Amino acid sequence: MRFPFFSTRPARWALAATALAGSSLLSGCFWLDGPQSSFDPNGPVAREQLDLFYLTCWVTLVIFIFVGGALAYAMVKFRARSDADLHAEPPEQHHGNPLVEVSLIALSVFSLVVIAVPTLKGIWLTYDVPEAEKANAYEVTATGYRWWFKFDYPNEMAQTPDATGKLVSAPLTTGSELVIPAGRPVHINLRTVDVIHSFWIPKLAGKVDMVPNRANLLWIEADKPGYFWGQCAEFCGESHALMRFRVIALGPREFNDWLNAQMAPARSVPVATASAAVRPKAQFADYRTFRKNEGGYSDRFDVSPLDAWRAQQVPDKDEDPVLIAKGRELFKAKTCIQCHTIRGDGAIGVTGPELTHIASRTTIAGGLLENNRDQLHRWIHAPGEVKPGNTMWVTGYLGNNIKLTPEDEDALMAYLESLK
Ligand code: CUA
Repeated sequence: MRFPFFSTRPARWALAATALAGSSLLSGCFWLDGPQSSFDPNGPVAREQLDLFYLTCWVTLVIFIFVGGALAYAMVKFRARSDADLHAEPPEQHHGNPLVEVSLIALSVFSLVVIAVPTLKGIWLTYDVPEAEKANAYEVTATGYRWWFKFDYPNEMAQTPDATGKLVSAPLTTGSELVIPAGRPVHINLRTVDVIHSFWIPKLAGKVDMVPNRANLLWIEADKPGYFWGQCAEFCGESHALMRFRVIALGPREFNDWLNAQMAPARSVPVATASAAVRPKAQFADYRTFRKNEGGYSDRFDVSPLDAWRAQQVPDKDEDPVLIAKGRELFKAKTCIQCHTIRGDGAIGVTGPELTHIASRTTIAGGLLENNRDQLHRWIHAPGEVKPGNTMWVTGYLGNNIKLTPEDEDALMAYLESLK
């Protein structure tokens, strides 16, 4: 079957150009500096991997030009020029040319060696923190849950008063946002509690899988303070694409300040203070209604995400202590404490993310939504609509038959937003 239109020369060129433009668009070549672009490395591991990618590209490009050129030359030079050519007997066939064969084998081996040596060097470098820097490495543990990441700091012991006031010591834990020291190697233990996930921070390092019953590891280093996007890169269920996280790299002093703030138990806003008495009651505007699958973050993450993170560390000025106290009680009454930990407030659940300082994070819902009032409402109002199949919705809300009135939601949000 023939399509007369496609056999004209301009039409064929147009088709080829469209295919090229389409595949470039699909492969994302036009957005090399996006938040999850591995073409914009910000650390030694990612840089090593990108260099290797470029080297492989150049070697294969040379081979492509060489082979493609020979093919094109033969096609043009020996094409059938007339009807007689088409029906002519094939010319006499030759087999074997030692010089051509040996040089092709030698060239293939050479190009493989050119790729293999830096590859082995790259595998060696990216596998673990270099020996010379091991003493300076900072250690964290990342654990995959469907569909969020938990981060433990095994060497930072946080003291928390229990119900009797006795101090209990346990490693510091956060969720969805990993804060690290910049300019220092960070050794990350990779674990999972359920299925296989893959831990990927495109600007800092290539992905490594989190495999059940297997201790994998990854190391990263951020050249300088910055805010980086991470993503689960292994299909792990219906909300796999919504399993995200952030990495915030801070200079030594700022990192220490952050650690000290995180070590403290949950912030409490006393009800019976003089200033609280004269404070007006919190007024909540109507919440936005989000379209299905609508993106959960604003452009403040594009303009200056690290400054947005810093602003997030400061408590709100217009807090309503009465509403916060009500929210704290509701957090217990609505069984939220069964799954979440809020150190110092009696919540010690470990199924869901640690929330002691939830308000100091820039994102919620596993790095998916920006941490602001509208998105927080969107999340606690109907988590199943944001992240289908998630445990908070299926086991928590549906399993425990949790119903929240609009007043309950306001109080819970006031409480969560006070947890800086
Ligand atoms: Cu976790 Cu995909």
